[in-house]
Amino acid sequence: MIPVLPNFVNCMPPYLGRFQAGRTRAAGCINVTVGTRRFMLLPDLASLEAAAQRVYQVMPPTPQICWPLLCARSGAEVWVKHENHTPVGAFKIRGGIIYMDELARREARIPGVIAATRGNHGQSVAFATARAGLRAVIVVPHGNSREKNAAMRALGAELVEYGRDFQEAHEHAARLAESQGLHMVRSFAPALVTGVGTYTLELFRAVAGLDAVYVPIGMGSGICGTIAVRDALGLRTEVIGVVAAGAPAYALSFAAGRPVATDTADTIADGVACRVPDTEALEVIRCGAARIVTVTDDEIRAAMRHLFTDTHNIAEGAGATALAALLQEANTMRGRRVAVVLSGGNVDREVFAPVLG
Ligand SMILES: Cc1ncc(COP(=O)(O)O)c(C=O)c1O
Repeated sequence: MIPVLPNFVNCMPPYLGRFQAGRTRAAGCINVTVGTRRFMLLPDLASLEAAAQRVYQVMPPTPQICWPLLCARSGAEVWVKHENHTPVGAFKIRGGIIYMDELARREARIPGVIAATRGNHGQSVAFATARAGLRAVIVVPHGNSREKNAAMRALGAELVEYGRDFQEAHEHAARLAESQGLHMVRSFAPALVTGVGTYTLELFRAVAGLDAVYVPIGMGSGICGTIAVRDALGLRTEVIGVVAAGAPAYALSFAAGRPVATDTADTIADGVACRVPDTEALEVIRCGAARIVTVTDDEIRAAMRHLFTDTHNIAEGAGATALAALLQEANTMRGRRVAVVLSGGNVDREVFAPVLG
């Protein structure tokens, strides 16, 4: 049983038409036993709207902009959701704000929190815990982004470097949480989904009639939030997930119909360098996403360049994956109204300089 938070609804109702109660869906999508098992919780509209109001106490809504040069490049009407313009330069901050709110309501006394991250989840946790006056321990793998590490320290986090990748850092953080009695903020949790879902609420309300939205997938909170909002608003917009070719765990899992872990996760898009998918996130994605597009690091680098030359925004690798996927699918998307989520702009100078050339 996964944790039940107030005001959450089961993700199944919007999809019931596609499932048969108590049976496995013909394509083997999900084992659904309606009425006895709650397999994933998605926020309803009231929760999303309440979360948005809470987020706006800390930051303003981010813009969504239709850039003419990007439209000309792709042949589609492209709206960029500018999550690079938040106080930590990434969408994750929204999840941190809502998560810490929920936590404060549920647990009056905790000694501090701990999280594993490649940087943006850690910044969001550090930002929110600093506001709550709590200790934040953040575990990053060796060789993590220098500038993201500096930003987390500047927000007051205690940084621990451990392991070769996110997964090893995550496992170490779980051990430290146990031994030090810290609350672990995992990278995928219902309150994070609600919080980050608020960017999609802004996007869908600002731009009517979107045919599709491309969303990067790391551990899955962003895309699950987008699916939740799409369904809560009763829209038909296709939600298209994007992964990096060097970290294809979610694409492999989507195709296989079960979690498939990979041995490595090597990509310029550090924010989506996931090796072991989250089971609950995968179920929601399999229910609600149209497909998952895999983009190479060369395509990601090109998209980072295009975002710079066409909009003069800086996108980190993960933040450029959505545009990379749209450009890969430009032929099918020609003439359609689509959105790409520029999920973050936190790229180290020494990584970005050679990308620009
Ligand atoms: C910039 C950026 N984009 C996308 C993602 C993936 O987000 P999620 O873990 O919600 O799938 C992350 C994760 O940290 C990120 O930092």
